[in-house]
Amino acid sequence: MQKKYAFEYELLEHAGLLPTADQNLLQAAIIATESAYAPYSNFKVGAAALLSTGQIIIGSNQESSSFPVGICAERTLLNSIGSQYPEATIISMAVSYDPLNKPSIEPISPCGMCRQSLLDFENRYHAPIKIILAGKSGPVMVLPSASNLLPFGFDGAILK
Ligand code: THU
Repeated sequence: MQKKYAFEYELLEHAGLLPTADQNLLQAAIIATESAYAPYSNFKVGAAALLSTGQIIIGSNQESSSFPVGICAERTLLNSIGSQYPEATIISMAVSYDPLNKPSIEPISPCGMCRQSLLDFENRYHAPIKIILAGKSGPVMVLPSASNLLPFGFDGAILK
């Protein structure tokens, strides 16, 4: 039997076309790049999440002199929310970046490890997390659910 996996997402020409709440979240992600510690890659990433409580929480990539020890902005943020706001759920997350020698004018997309972590949080909340991806300017991608980023991702429910 032949099957097909597809999902819909939005591609907006610029951030000004986003609803105000999403514009604010993206702006928080852009500002969050300033707290990145990225002396090895010079690629600063910022993430911001809107919680069910209405709070906006930020995270950024934190690199290590032992390179694999470093952590992406998305997982910095998710783990911090899981630890500090265990009762809240995440409504949406925006990700942006500031590279040292390049313009930040197109979206970047979370790495594979972050996709698994995002999926884990969605499964934990039993609710989708909207994902907003953009550079400091330029087009914006909006995905309705983090699960769109990881088709056939591992669901920890099988461990129970
Ligand atoms: N990085 C993130 O923080 N998030 C992403 O979505 C992609 C990559 C970080 C990891 C590393 O510190 C730097 O960007 C270059 O890969």
